[in-house]
Amino acid sequence: MNAPDHVLWCHLPIVPGRYDIKTDWAKPVQATEGYYPVVPASYRVQDIFDRVASRYDESLPGMFLPDVLDPTVDFLAELAGNGPVLELGIGTGRVALPLVEKGISVHGIDLSQAMVERLRAKPGGDAVEVTIGDFATTKVEGDFSLAYLVFNTITNLTTEDAQVDCFANVAKHLEPGGVFVIENFIPTLHRLQPGEKVVPIHVTPTRLHFDEYDVANQTLVSHHYRVVDGQLELLSTPHRYVWPSELDLMARHAGMTLRERWATWTREPFTSTSPSHISVWEKTA
Ligand SMILES: C[S@@+](CC[C@H](N)C(=O)[O-])C[C@H]1O[C@@H](n2cnc3c(N)ncnc32)[C@H](O)[C@@H]1O
Repeated sequence: MNAPDHVLWCHLPIVPGRYDIKTDWAKPVQATEGYYPVVPASYRVQDIFDRVASRYDESLPGMFLPDVLDPTVDFLAELAGNGPVLELGIGTGRVALPLVEKGISVHGIDLSQAMVERLRAKPGGDAVEVTIGDFATTKVEGDFSLAYLVFNTITNLTTEDAQVDCFANVAKHLEPGGVFVIENFIPTLHRLQPGEKVVPIHVTPTRLHFDEYDVANQTLVSHHYRVVDGQLELLSTPHRYVWPSELDLMARHAGMTLRERWATWTREPFTSTSPSHISVWEKTA
């Protein structure tokens, strides 16, 4: 079996036919018979985000809609009090900049210089302090009333150890009573029949997104194929999916206790069918 390339981001003309999707920077993964590692040892999250940075905002218009973004910002602003706040994986400042507009001081951590350069180029971008580093381990100056990690970004940490380290790192940055907020998806294992590993997430003639699960290792690769301006864009990203109960345990280990869990930023109840959750842990120890 041929192993798929794990990091692909290329453009192809959309004319019926066959295409060689190899690019000179694509990274084929060593395969063993019938099996391939989901997260190759050479994987670096910043390689992906450095490549997508120039089109990140444009490729996610829905995430910037007031209906989506305003409740996120209001929820976080309410918890922030007088701040300051810490955003893990600040990216291009989608959430941070509206918080700054509300008068809240935001410090960000991110591994991708290119994403942060996009943040800097926006109005108000120079008001945000950003440290380049891994948010699982990077320490910045200050005590924060709120730390947050939105848009499924906890799963960019592709090992359990890294996710545990992230909670411990956040606890070090919070003032007593400070809170940590995570927005994350609920894994869709219930949609897999025995022996299957692929779950379609979005299937239209111009966009295909499916998640390829490796249940034994609790990881998945999220594959995105999108037609943009007559070109095909491909992107595959590795993730470690994680359950709310597991996050609660990581929080407890770091001296934090679950305070709230909602299905949405507008505080709809979290239920057995919620596709994602917003969880708030308080530093209690
Ligand atoms: C999905 S984007 C989210 C950006 C922003 N928070 C938003 O909501 O639009 C994830 C961001 O997290 C950063 N990131 C992922 N893993 C990271 C890590 N371990 N340490 C630091 N930054 C990381 C990426 O570079 C990227 O900018």
